Amino acid sequence: MQTKTRDDRARPLRLIQITDTHLYRDPAGALLGLNTQDSFVQVVDLIARQQPDPDWIVATGDIAQDASVEAYQRFADTIATLNAPFCWIPGNHDSRRVMTSTPAFKAAFMERVQLGNWQIIMLDTSVPGEVHGLLSDHELAHLEASLASAGSGKRAGSDDSAASEQRVEHSLVCLHHNPIPGTAGWMQDIGLHNAQAFLDILKRHDSVRGVVYGHIHQTLDFEAHGQRFYCTPSTCIQFKPGVEDFALDLRCPAYRWFDLHADGRIESAVERLQDYTVEVDQSAGGY
Ligand SMILES: [Fe+2]
Repeated sequence: MQTKTRDDRARPLRLIQITDTHLYRDPAGALLGLNTQDSFVQVVDLIARQQPDPDWIVATGDIAQDASVEAYQRFADTIATLNAPFCWIPGNHDSRRVMTSTPAFKAAFMERVQLGNWQIIMLDTSVPGEVHGLLSDHELAHLEASLASAGSGKRAGSDDSAASEQRVEHSLVCLHHNPIPGTAGWMQDIGLHNAQAFLDILKRHDSVRGVVYGHIHQTLDFEAHGQRFYCTPSTCIQFKPGVEDFALDLRCPAYRWFDLHADGRIESAVERLQDYTVEVDQSAGGY
């Protein structure tokens, strides 16, 4: 586990979410006609302009389209310019094995991060070779143990050598796959398959303030099952909500920021590229 404390408690913690970058080994690689490296760099430039002092970056999966070392290394090199630590979880297009063999990603693999009186819980929902997600027994136990540690002053995880003295009071849960069914007909089978087990654990604990994910490449901010859910657009292509068959949305690449207040409140918004022309293959039947 990583911890970070800050002397300045007058302002909330600023968390940045980057998701579904879909980078390729070849920087010229394009997903349905869109150069993913170019749009990613432009989003990181936007973050640099808008976010002078971020506390942490979470990368919520589908970081590479082709699970290549080169794509992961380029991701790490690019976000290093933002001068904030990052952590990650794999998506269905990623390889956790390759990621953990890439030094910058190995160092940034964290199941849980404590920021002030908040904990960020990172859950791996990837299933090798599958598009849908599943939480293994290990991940479910990790979620349960992390949430059980909140409020008690007891620290979850084994590495407490640098642990904060501060008590965890609020939790933010991050995963790649949508735990609530997607908003388009074609998405119905690609989400988290054991979502009920996930929701049952959340229900048993009262520190959860938000659930954060990507995967379905669109903006969502809603309440369900007594929880607040945030879905964040991709830094490349977007999926059209509310349709039956696969369709691309022409909205621009984006990222999301969160302000995590010490009293448990969350403020959040999605920021998109401006003056960017989305050129994609609109006849595509899938990705
Ligand atoms: Fe994706």
